[in-house]
Amino acid sequence: MSTINAGTFGQDFLWGTATAAYQIEGGATEGGRGPSIWDTLCRVPGAVQGGDTGDVACDHYHRWREDVDHLERLGVGGYRLSISWPRVQPGGRGPLNPEGVAFYRDLLDALRSKGITPFVTLYHWDLPQELEDAGGWAVRETAEAFADYARAMARELGNRVATWTTLNEPWCSACLGYASGVHAPGRTEPASALAAVHHLNLAHGLAVRAIREELPGAQCSITLNLHVFRAATASDQDADAVRQVDGLANRVFLGPLLEGAYPDDVLADTADVSDWSFVRDGDLDVTRQPIDVLGVNYYSSTRVRRFSGNGEPVRADGHRTTVTSPWVAADDVEFLPQPGPHTAMGWNVEPAGLTELLVSLHERYPDQPLAVTENGAAFDDVVVPDTALGIDRVHDVARVAYLRDHVAAVGAAIDAGADVRGYFAWSLMDNFEWAYGYSKRFGLLRVDYDTGERTWKDSAYWFARLARTGRLPA
Ligand code: NOJ
Repeated sequence: MSTINAGTFGQDFLWGTATAAYQIEGGATEGGRGPSIWDTLCRVPGAVQGGDTGDVACDHYHRWREDVDHLERLGVGGYRLSISWPRVQPGGRGPLNPEGVAFYRDLLDALRSKGITPFVTLYHWDLPQELEDAGGWAVRETAEAFADYARAMARELGNRVATWTTLNEPWCSACLGYASGVHAPGRTEPASALAAVHHLNLAHGLAVRAIREELPGAQCSITLNLHVFRAATASDQDADAVRQVDGLANRVFLGPLLEGAYPDDVLADTADVSDWSFVRDGDLDVTRQPIDVLGVNYYSSTRVRRFSGNGEPVRADGHRTTVTSPWVAADDVEFLPQPGPHTAMGWNVEPAGLTELLVSLHERYPDQPLAVTENGAAFDDVVVPDTALGIDRVHDVARVAYLRDHVAAVGAAIDAGADVRGYFAWSLMDNFEWAYGYSKRFGLLRVDYDTGERTWKDSAYWFARLARTGRLPA
């Protein structure tokens, strides 16, 4: 697995790390920022583990210069960050907040000055609360507001941004936010989840158009968490279960975004939940915009089988067990626990799934450049003092192995012909892991949440060697 061809990762291959605004910034009520749906959900008792909030997070809002220095020390060529919509436009519509815009302008300038290419995500789940109060992603107006916000950012930040990523993991926004309710806004309305799927696809298309109107030739992308499904057996029923959930998680985005149509089988499978009348004439011309790169987030795979109808269906989807399922219209599919090894999230480790995903995307969309915009692992890290050097160490052997095997898997996909342009490790530093609060640590850098101090884990030293050489360290 760790032998890949020398030269697999070309000179221009971008090595980077990724973060998201709500997960690291803090400064939730500073600098004119308005409330987001995550600020609200964090205040619902029981919604987030430990009652944690993003109020302070990694305090990146104040420590961003230090974090840019860490990026420079890591030697990465790219950094994937997100803009907090409620920081730059507190109500989600109307006037911009100049202080918020200035924060990102300064950050982008600092990155540029160190030769780090900024990949900017416009929406990493922190919808301004006022827009949720007006219906959230279940209503079309949110997509229109998003396009206005995207246009404003293109105007304000211009060529400081190398690649504009419209949305991060819209499946999570729609299905975890509006069906299972484990993510903000915490609604459990299956029909609204499907409306959200469409309005997110529409938001992407409208935003790409708006950005390119402001900045002709701007590089645009979207990041999807495409699921890799495994059938529990070779039976036709289980193959059909895979078809069904592949439609609900993957093709319901890839279809409108890259082919200009919703798959017929998805519409049929969901007919009891929604008639999809929120799709208007012309929408699918809007959703399908040429994108310069398709971002792929990958962590693990999912095993399913057709529910036999006996007893209660197994609902462990390898991610989390929920009372209400994010899988709209898939009550007849069971999500089976995966064999290990597992990370601290309980997610199985299967690097081959990443190779398969990238190769299958390349086969289906041969002209579409790809990038791995997130990959990484949470483990229960242990801090040990290094008395000789007088510093703290985190010997995160399992994370290094995870990263090494997945980078090798990307290499295998490239060797098989996939056009993969970059790899971003999730995450630069430990941060707010949504409904899990601060209990799960994905960082290359450890964050001490009492002091804000960052400590390089062994994985950071390892990644720095990779980023500097473009070769897998021995
Ligand atoms: C997906 C999300 O984009 C990111 O916000 C999250 O922290 C990681 N995966 C890990 O769950």
